[in-house]
Amino acid sequence: MNIDLKKYILDVPNFPIHGIGFKDITPLLNNKDAFKTAINLMIKDFKDKGVTKVAGIDSRGFILSAPAAYALNAGFVPVRKKGKLPRSTYCEKFAYEYDEAHLEIHTDAFSPADKILLIDDVLATGGTAEAAVKLIKKSGAELIGISFLLEISFLKGIDKLDKNLIKTIIRY
Ligand code: PRP
Ligand code: MG
Repeated sequence: MNIDLKKYILDVPNFPIHGIGFKDITPLLNNKDAFKTAINLMIKDFKDKGVTKVAGIDSRGFILSAPAAYALNAGFVPVRKKGKLPRSTYCEKFAYEYDEAHLEIHTDAFSPADKILLIDDVLATGGTAEAAVKLIKKSGAELIGISFLLEISFLKGIDKLDKNLIKTIIRY
């Protein structure tokens, strides 16, 4: 399907704080063709890579990563904000575009035999994804790719990640 996904992403200036340009993906999620196209494009390069689990980043990343896991016939692992997972966790602190936070995974979420595709909606400064990558490495699993719906290029988040692993559908 030939569809211009940028049409479904709205710019909201000064949200959530002054000086930040927010990319609102809810119109894309709202449209069945745009949503399906976005998921299909995000997983396209990883279909034959033997992905065993998709890791999705809390919270907007969940919306894209769970259908991606389903479509890839893989398991799903939530990379959650601190304090939400009930059992033993690995934890990483990070600074991001307009705040600082911690991400966690359960220590038994991955085994060293797992091949992981990491998914989030936005790559901005890269702090969030970098922390998620560290968590996956702590678990000993193999990270085979990182897929973003969109990248805000001027923030240079890509510099914090392994460029060879990254796939991005839309760039600003
Ligand atoms: C947003 C976005 C990415 C992250 C990107 O999440 O969904 O996860 O920021 O920023 P970075 O590349 O500068 O780290 P946020 O934590 O704002 O909120 P969410 O819970 O709505 O996903
Ligand atoms: Mg997020």
